[in-house]
Amino acid sequence: MSKSISKVAVVGTGVLGAQIATLSACFDYQVAAYDPDEQAFRRVHQHLASVIAAAGQPPPVSLEDWNESAEAVRICPSLAEALQDADLVIEASPENLESKRRVFAEMDALAPPRAILATNSSSIPISRIESATGRPERCLNIHFYFPVLGSTMVDVMGGARTTAEVFETGKDWVRSIGCVPLTVKKESLGFCFNRVWRAIKKETLHMWADGFVDFQDVDRAWMLFSGMPYGPFGLMDNVGLDVVYGVEMVYYNESRDPRDHPPRALKDMIDRGELGAKTGRGFYIYPDPDYARPDFLKS
Ligand SMILES: NC(=O)c1ccc[n+]([C@@H]2O[C@H](COP(=O)([O-])OP(=O)(O)OC[C@H]3O[C@@H](n4cnc5c(N)ncnc54)[C@H](O)[C@@H]3O)[C@@H](O)[C@H]2O)c1
Repeated sequence: MSKSISKVAVVGTGVLGAQIATLSACFDYQVAAYDPDEQAFRRVHQHLASVIAAAGQPPPVSLEDWNESAEAVRICPSLAEALQDADLVIEASPENLESKRRVFAEMDALAPPRAILATNSSSIPISRIESATGRPERCLNIHFYFPVLGSTMVDVMGGARTTAEVFETGKDWVRSIGCVPLTVKKESLGFCFNRVWRAIKKETLHMWADGFVDFQDVDRAWMLFSGMPYGPFGLMDNVGLDVVYGVEMVYYNESRDPRDHPPRALKDMIDRGELGAKTGRGFYIYPDPDYARPDFLKS
């Protein structure tokens, strides 16, 4: 356990928040969580159990611990209740700057003054959110990857005024839940590893949308190369294609470079409700996607 943190609150228990809450509980933190959709945590947990089982059981916890710890997460009916006595608050609500600023203002009003406020945003630097609070020096980015149980690296990045003590506390907490903190030394859109993953997403999406290759062959190549149980398109399905699109748009809005704009074909899928594993259809069809077939790599 981290020396200064014993209670963790998670705000938003969708795909990522549910995992962050569960992993914290695995390492004996008291965990409270809030989501306006009270069913979100259970729904996501059920879906993730199969994703994580398919991905094997890498460290830091076993699947059994994982499932037991999910039961220990206290789902609260209000944000105020979830934030009571919190030492660390991790926000994992939708990827939208204005709504995250509103959520941070509420968190600031309801959490104890000592609490550290962190965002799990995939693309928004905390320096753009911190001014919504009266404690910018206690705000930072703590960014987990999907699936949290298999991808144990976590970006940690400060904002304009984050103190060294808060930054180190964030890193210590990340270590204390069996993860590896990646220190981002100065503000970087995409943090550390997300910039690498972003380059892969951008390239492969355009390779597919421009008709150069089938997405299945990209995934086959990646799986053979890396030994991972899915390739970039399978991973995007699991992340959620709406989330992928939103993140790509953040990069595009930053650069205004047309080459950074996500392909129209991806938006068409989203408009049809094909958001990936969570809606049963994305690039693949769930719950039994082709990439999980034993003969997928032989085709
Ligand atoms: N999906 C990924 O692989 C991934 C990876 C790393 C980081 N992230 C980041 O994590 C955050 C959440 O992404 P996600 O994929 O879990 O999204 P998601 O859509 O699965 O979950 C978001 C949850 O937030 C809830 N919510 C909506 N408004 C809220 C509010 N005002 N307060 C609290 N909760 C609210 C929703 O009900 C939903 O359950 C985003 O910032 C995203 O960029 C996602």
